[in-house]
Amino acid sequence: MKILVTGGGGFIGSNFLHLLVPRYPDHFFINVDKLTYAANLFSLKDIEALPNYTFAQLDIADPQAVLAVFDRYAPELVVHFAAESHVDRSILGPADFIQTNIVGTFNLLEACRATWQPPARGLFHHVSTDEVYGSLGDTGLFTEETKYDPSSPYSASKAASDHLVRAYHKTFDLPVKITNCSNNYGPRQFPEKLIPLMMLNALEGKPLPIYGQGRNVRDWLYVEDHCEAIWTVIERGREGETYNIGGKSEKTNLDVVQTICRVLAEETGRPVAEFEKLITFVPDRPGHDLRYAIDTSRIAGELGWTPKESFHTGLRKTVQWYLHNQQWVEQVRTGEYRRWLVANYSDRVRLGRGGEIHFATEKV
Ligand code: NAD
Ligand code: DAU
Repeated sequence: MKILVTGGGGFIGSNFLHLLVPRYPDHFFINVDKLTYAANLFSLKDIEALPNYTFAQLDIADPQAVLAVFDRYAPELVVHFAAESHVDRSILGPADFIQTNIVGTFNLLEACRATWQPPARGLFHHVSTDEVYGSLGDTGLFTEETKYDPSSPYSASKAASDHLVRAYHKTFDLPVKITNCSNNYGPRQFPEKLIPLMMLNALEGKPLPIYGQGRNVRDWLYVEDHCEAIWTVIERGREGETYNIGGKSEKTNLDVVQTICRVLAEETGRPVAEFEKLITFVPDRPGHDLRYAIDTSRIAGELGWTPKESFHTGLRKTVQWYLHNQQWVEQVRTGEYRRWLVANYSDRVRLGRGGEIHFATEKV
């Protein structure tokens, strides 16, 4: 099978390729990625020489480029990860989110429709997020029937893309599947997201900025468990169906950061107080969703998928990966992107040429 993976230079896409390219030597994987600030081809160095893997740099928002790659490879399966994925950036500059997440998904759907003329029939697997459902209160879980209520430009753009995918199934009978997953963590995650940002800042003695009071709750899932869930749905899920994926691992942000400090102390032999003293409460993210939590009964009941890692085993693996992969860390650290020091939306902010966020309060 020829499998087109979009966004394979990013966090989840690169982990997906790491798992599946060596496992399936008879499948041919085409990774298409624009290589934005969030991509890192170094993440793929272990698989780039394998004969069943190739890479093409392209912008999915460019319809001609998308059609050209479909013409060249005629993929039978598309696994669509490519997106602008960071909520904070969507607040600072939503335009790219509309282009990539909505227009880009539309271009891919059109290319699939053109390529899979009957009797040819492929599959478009859309990788989406639980953020489309908005926020939960203190109780309850997101099910596949929860109504869409996105809060940020990021989640609104992902919601729009989900609607397009379902519409193409209903209107054009395009074979599609959708998965909506909770927060991922693990190796190769760009350090703008909570867990890698806190790890790297802590190791460098920089502040650990917690939005608001740190009481917001996320349902954490180790990235390999997410990738296995996606593959399970591709292989055995029902066409046209949506599956929620989550870790049954709800934590407040403060709890997550304190756990990172403890695991870092254990792994480095440094005192935990050295890390914990860096915790800094900063102004809250606008429209900050209070709580996400996933009901996984559909994927567990129908397909038998459950996560292998607990938060504690997954986090320790993640900390060890960042400590033992200094070359990857160094590449990100010395690239154009700089981690912010204090997130304050009331400050004047701008995006730099390398996609880095500059704050008026920032001292780099
Ligand atoms: P990421 O930001 O790490 O990677 C995104 C990748 O997409 C990058 O390699 C980037 O270069 C590429 N890309 C961006 N714009 C592109 C364009 N116009 N054309 C081609 N490539 C482009 O993101 P991630 O965290 O790996 O997320 C992957 C997918 O999973 C996204 O669709 C996201 O919405 C979804 N998701 C993420 C999480 C999470 O916790 N990270 C959870 C649920 C769902
Ligand atoms: O739920 C799935 C989503 O999870 C994905 O769709 C997104 O692509 C992914 O980025 C993630 O979104 P979040 O906004 O939940 O992730 P982030 O790592 O940015 O933030 C996690 C929580 O931590 C959130 O409540 C905000 C908070 N936070 C984040 C950062 C970066 C802080 O308190 N301080 C920070 O510096």
